[in-house]
Amino acid sequence: MEGPRISGLILGIETSCDETAAALVTEDGELRANVVASQADLHARFGGVVPEVASRRHLELVVPVVREALGEAGATLDDVGRVAVTQGPGLVGALLVGIAAAKALAWARRLPLVPVDHLDGHIASLYLEPDPVEPPFLCLLASGGHTLLLDVRSHSEQEILGTTLDDAAGEAFDKGARLLGLGYPGGREIDRLARHGDPEAYDFPVARVPGLDFSFSGLKTALLYAVRDLGPEELEARKADLAASYQRAIVKALVGRVREAGRDRVAVVGGVAANSELRASLADASLAPLALTTDNAAMIASAARFAEPVPYPRYLGLDAYASR
Ligand code: KG4
Ligand code: ZN
Repeated sequence: MEGPRISGLILGIETSCDETAAALVTEDGELRANVVASQADLHARFGGVVPEVASRRHLELVVPVVREALGEAGATLDDVGRVAVTQGPGLVGALLVGIAAAKALAWARRLPLVPVDHLDGHIASLYLEPDPVEPPFLCLLASGGHTLLLDVRSHSEQEILGTTLDDAAGEAFDKGARLLGLGYPGGREIDRLARHGDPEAYDFPVARVPGLDFSFSGLKTALLYAVRDLGPEELEARKADLAASYQRAIVKALVGRVREAGRDRVAVVGGVAANSELRASLADASLAPLALTTDNAAMIASAARFAEPVPYPRYLGLDAYASR
């Protein structure tokens, strides 16, 4: 295993978007507790995440969530050897709540702190027991904020082979759901509705962009036009077909790129990796465990196993970053 060994549990904290999460992972990658408090309901009536609302909610939830994780693991802070926290990318105000909590906990206990990149976290969702996936592999990381094709060479080395030129895949799901009048977050809603629809009913375009990049904005516009052409009653009747065809186009784009990259070993992570059609289409790939696809702190603690800890008390000046 790479990285320095420090005894004790790793306490992970994640607050980059609208999930307040804490987890405890052992040095060997065993998951002892994984608590996720989703704020989705709070943001649903706005149709998306409101950053200021998210920050305030994180502030209320972060300590109870850490306490619950310790309880779930049957542990106390005495059992924690280091604290890991998402440093970015994400909503800065939201990130700062997790970072402040992590600093306070680490400082009070004179523990080291490990700042973790959220995207490295998603990849590290593959490294946990009982079925860890070892690099090298080609990784499709598809979330609400990112769509990346990565050449993951080791636990700490990776190269970006492709990225989205406009919307992220999860964003395409969320915006599509909004056009269809479905709830937020939209990916899960489209996934659910698509089961009752015909994926061939509409021929939505799969963007042709050079290399291994992605583009989803044209698809979103195609859905907008299809929705506009229907009256309210027709829309209701065709909603499942629209959802199924729209999902099919996104999955086709993702799977197409993965196949074009031509690698034997493929892994899929991020919120969109929860999608049932994508999982079925890439059944030969290593798929992140369903519970660890959307944002969680287990993946952050997992990534900390392979990252450099900042010793006490040097991390007190640590800042968040919005983008990579
Ligand atoms: O990784 P994640 O929790 O947060 C970010 O880092 O962005 O990903 C959230 C994204 C959202 O866009 C959400 O709609 C999408 O993942 N998502 C799904 C499904 N579950 C969540 N997309 C498609 N199908 C799903 N079942
Ligand atoms: Zn994420």
